[in-house]
Amino acid sequence: MSTGQASQVTVLGLGAIGAAVSRVLLANGYRTAVWNRSADKATALVEHGARPAASAADAVATSELVILAVTDYAAARAVLEQVGAALTGKVLVNLTTGTPEGARRIQRMARERGADYLDGCVQGGADQVGTAEATLLYSGSLAAYEAHAATLHTLSTSSTFLGESVGTANLYDLAILNLWYESQSAFLHMLATFQDEGEPVKAFVPYAEWILEATRAGFADTATQVAESSYPVEVGGLAEHARVLGDLVEMREKSGVAVAPVAHLAGLVRQRLDSGADRQDLTSVIAAIRR
Ligand SMILES: NC(=O)c1ccc[n+]([C@@H]2O[C@H](COP(=O)([O-])OP(=O)(O)OC[C@H]3O[C@@H](n4cnc5c(N)ncnc54)[C@H](OP(=O)(O)O)[C@@H]3O)[C@@H](O)[C@H]2O)c1
Repeated sequence: MSTGQASQVTVLGLGAIGAAVSRVLLANGYRTAVWNRSADKATALVEHGARPAASAADAVATSELVILAVTDYAAARAVLEQVGAALTGKVLVNLTTGTPEGARRIQRMARERGADYLDGCVQGGADQVGTAEATLLYSGSLAAYEAHAATLHTLSTSSTFLGESVGTANLYDLAILNLWYESQSAFLHMLATFQDEGEPVKAFVPYAEWILEATRAGFADTATQVAESSYPVEVGGLAEHARVLGDLVEMREKSGVAVAPVAHLAGLVRQRLDSGADRQDLTSVIAAIRR
C-alpha cells in the first residue's frame, strides 16, 4: 500500500480528462507513465516527456499511484480486468464518473486485486484540470487521499474529500448535475412556451436569473426543513401551489409543451393535500417523493 508522495504516476485512459491529467502531472515534474486502448492518443504526451507503456498492466507496474479516466464504469471494469494482479499494493484513483453503486463495484474489484481505492469526480471541463476552476470531489480511502494529497492537489487546488463511503463523490457529482439538468430543462420548456405565445425568448432571461437567485437563496432553509421534518408555511400553502401548478400544466398543454415535470410535482402536492396537509410549505412534498 501507499508509502508516501509519488514522484512517478501512471495514467490509464488518455481521453480529454486523462490527457489533461497527464499534461498537468508532467508540467509539475512527475514521471508519468501513460497507456490508452488506442495507442495513438499517447503520441502527443510522449513528445512532452510521458513514458508510453505497451499494456495497462505494464503501465501500472511502474508506479505506486495509478489514475484511471475512461468513458464510464463498464470501460473502467474492462481496464481493471486487463490490469489484474499488477494492481497489488497500488493506490487506484478513478476519475471516471458513474453512479454510487458503480463506484462500490469498482472498489470491490480494486480490493480483490489488493489495491487501495479512491473515487474521484471532476466538476468542470478537461481544460480546467490543474486549476482551481475544476473542483475534484473524492471519496473512499482517506489513507490514499492523504498519502497522495500533494499530487492530487496539482490536479485542482479546490479538491474536497467527502468521506470514506466510496459512492459519496458520485452522489454529489450527480446531484449537482441533476440540479443543472432540471433547471436547464425548466428554462427550455418555458422558452418553448414563449415562442408559442410569440414572445421573444431573450426577454425572459432577467426574470429567469432573478427567480433562480431567489431559489438559491432559499436552499439552506429548505434543507433545514427537510432535516428537521418540519414544514411551517409562511405564505400560502399547498392548496395555493396546487392552483399555480394547475395553471402551469394548462398553459404548457395549450402550447404543446411537455408537462411531465410540473404535472409530477402537482401530483405530489395533491397527495399531500389528500392526506390533510394543506397548511404546510411546498417542502413537505419530500414525504411523497419516494416511490
Ligand atoms: N471531458 C470532460 O470535460 C469531463 C468533465 C467531467 C467529467 N468527465 C468524466 O471523466 C471521464 C473521462 O471522460 P473523457 O472526457 O476523458 O472521455 P473521452 O475523451 O471520451 O475518452 C474516453 C476514454 O476512455 C477510453 N475507453 C473507452 N472505453 C474503453 C474500454 N472499454 N477499454 C479501455 N479504454 C476505454 C477511450 O479509449 P480510446 O481512445 O481507445 O477510445 C478514451 O481514452 C468520464 O467518466 C466523463 O464523464 C469528463
